[in-house]
Amino acid sequence: MGKEVFLGLVGFGTIGTGIVKLLQKNDELIQKRLGARLVIKKIADIDIDTPRAISVDRNILTTNVNEILDDPEISIVIELIGGYDYARSFIINAMRKGKHVVTANKALLATHGNEIFTVADEEKVNIGFEASVGGTIPIIKTLKESLVANNIKSISGIMNGTSNYILTKMTEEKRPFGDVLKEAQDLGFAEADPTYDIEGIDTAHKLTLTLSLSYGKRVNMEDIYMEGISNISLQDIEFAKQLGYNIKLLAIAIQREDSIEARIHPAMIPFDHPLANVSGNFNAFQFIGDASGSVSLYGQGAGMMPTASAVVSDLVEIARDMVKGVWRRVPLRSFTKNNIEDINLMPMDDIITNYYFRFSALDRPGVLSRISGVLGNYHISIASVIQKERKVNSSEVVPVVMTTHKAREKDVQSALKEINKLDMVGAKTILIRIEDGKLK
Ligand code: HSE
Repeated sequence: MGKEVFLGLVGFGTIGTGIVKLLQKNDELIQKRLGARLVIKKIADIDIDTPRAISVDRNILTTNVNEILDDPEISIVIELIGGYDYARSFIINAMRKGKHVVTANKALLATHGNEIFTVADEEKVNIGFEASVGGTIPIIKTLKESLVANNIKSISGIMNGTSNYILTKMTEEKRPFGDVLKEAQDLGFAEADPTYDIEGIDTAHKLTLTLSLSYGKRVNMEDIYMEGISNISLQDIEFAKQLGYNIKLLAIAIQREDSIEARIHPAMIPFDHPLANVSGNFNAFQFIGDASGSVSLYGQGAGMMPTASAVVSDLVEIARDMVKGVWRRVPLRSFTKNNIEDINLMPMDDIITNYYFRFSALDRPGVLSRISGVLGNYHISIASVIQKERKVNSSEVVPVVMTTHKAREKDVQSALKEINKLDMVGAKTILIRIEDGKLK
C-alpha cells in the first residue's frame, strides 16, 4: 500500500457524514490524484449512537476529542463543531500540537481569523477553509491561486442561500416572507439562528473572508455596512419587476482610490445582470480583475455533498504538500504575512449609487413637488416616477415610487429623514439601492 495520511474528524453531523461518504465513494480516484490515501482514523462527536447515512467501523468513533488531539499519527483535523468558543480552542489546541486544520466555520474565521491565522504561522501548519465561503464553489482557491495576478477591482456576490431562496420564492410565487422562511428552515440550509441568514450576518462572514483574501487585509466585520431582507415586501418586488429588476441580497466590494467600499444590502439588479437569475438556494460570485475581466462562479453554497466536496479538496491540497514534503506553499490569506494590513473601509455615507424609494403619500396636488423639492435640495435627481393607485379625497396613502440618478448615501438619508416628517407622508419611506451599470 502507498502512503497514508491520517485524519481526525470532529463533528459527525450532516457535513461530517458527507465527508466520510465521499472519501469512501471516491477513495480510488482521490488516491490516483493525490498519490496517497486519506484515512479517517477517528471521528469524535457527543452523539456516536444515532445511526448515520453511512456505515463506519464503531472502533473509530469516540466522544473524547483528546483521542484525536493526542494521536501523533493524525496529521489533519477536520473541525465541524461550529460556533465560536469550543471550536476556537479546539482548532488552536490542534495547531499547537502540530496538526493541520480544515474547517467550514466561517463565523469563527471571520471573527477570530487573525488569532487563528497567527497561530497557524507560528506552528507552521496549514488551515483549509474552502467550504466556509460559498460551500462547494471554489472561491478561496480562485482568489489565492487562479486570480493571483490580478488587482481585484470589484466583487459582487449572492453569498447566502437561505435569503436567496426566500427572495426567489417571493418573486416567482408571490408568497409572503414568513411563509418561505419557514420552508427554507425545513429544507435544512438555514443557519441554526436564521437571523444570521436574513439579516446579512452570514453574508458578512463570507464577505469578510473574501475581502481579506482579495486585498490582503485584516477586516473587522462590524465595520461593514449590513442590511438584511426582512423588510422586503411583495409590493417592492412587484415594483422592481415593472422597472426591469430582480431584488437580491448582495455583498458588494469595490476598490476605490485609497479605500475599499464594502456593503451588504438588498439591491435591485437588471434582469440581464449575471447575478439576477441565480435562483433558489444557489450562491454566485462575480469578480472583476484588472487583467481577467469579469469572472463568475456559481454553485451550491450549502448541503451535505457539495460542502463535503470543498472540505475534501482542502484535505487533498494539504496532503499533496505533505506528500511533496513542503509546508504550505500558498499563504493562508493569499498575501505573505508581512504584507497584511488593516483595511481602510469607505464610510457608508460616502457611497454613490442609484436608489429606489417607495413613499407612502397622500394623493393630493402638490405632494410630488414637495417630495421632489426636498430631494432637489439634497442634489438628488429623479430618474423615474410611478404612481398608479388613486385615493382622491381620502386620508389613505398611496405608494409613490421614484428611482434616482446617482446620489450620495448621506444626502439620501438626510432627504428621507426630512420627507418622512412631512404631514402628507404616512409611513416610513422604503429605500432599496439599485445596482445598474446603465443608470447614470
Ligand atoms: N446558511 C447558509 C446559507 C449556509 O443559507 O447560505 C451556508 O453557509
